[in-house]
Amino acid sequence: MEGLKEIVRACTKCRLHLGRKNAVPGEGPAWARIVLVGEAPGRQEDEEGRPFVGAAGRLLDSLLREAGLRREELYVTNLVKCRPPGNRRPRSDEISACLPYLLSELSALRPALVVALGETAGRSLSQALGIEWRGLGEMRGRKRVGALGGRALALLFTYHPSAALRRRELGDLILKDLTLAAEIARGNPPGDPEDEPHSQDHP
Ligand code: URA
Repeated sequence: MEGLKEIVRACTKCRLHLGRKNAVPGEGPAWARIVLVGEAPGRQEDEEGRPFVGAAGRLLDSLLREAGLRREELYVTNLVKCRPPGNRRPRSDEISACLPYLLSELSALRPALVVALGETAGRSLSQALGIEWRGLGEMRGRKRVGALGGRALALLFTYHPSAALRRRELGDLILKDLTLAAEIARGNPPGDPEDEPHSQDHP
């Protein structure tokens, strides 16, 4: 994983390297049971070269704590490792260029669960892992099983913490989903969570 981080830091595969201060590789222990996948670094992450260290990251940390998870036990990464100018959405060619890094991280880590934060990460990961994407409102709060390199990989989709900074009610839904993620990662999810909604309360 250290080799991959160095490759990411030196990457020039897409235009985003031109405007970055720092590429932002994933961060966390190799034994992490849960991998969180955001969209792309923001200003603070670009400054520090670390994922989720700005306002969205602070909200994420507090939601993780409420869900009974510690940031230090998770691996946190992004779909795209360099900040898009003005925090725009990453473009499809930028996502395609960067996706192999994320898939390498997931193959190396082999976590019990991947939690995709937000529509962009959710849609791209679904496509890459062979899961039909039906929009975040429908996909969130349910465990799905995709495939990576011939192995099953469990995913959970939820809102991005940046969205919860604008719409506070989404924070409650993220908290529910992270609580479910913690249960799945501990191996004792309530009932059979696969393709079962744990909540009907889509906003
Ligand atoms: N938003 C993201 O999607 N990722 C980060 O690392 C920070 C903010």
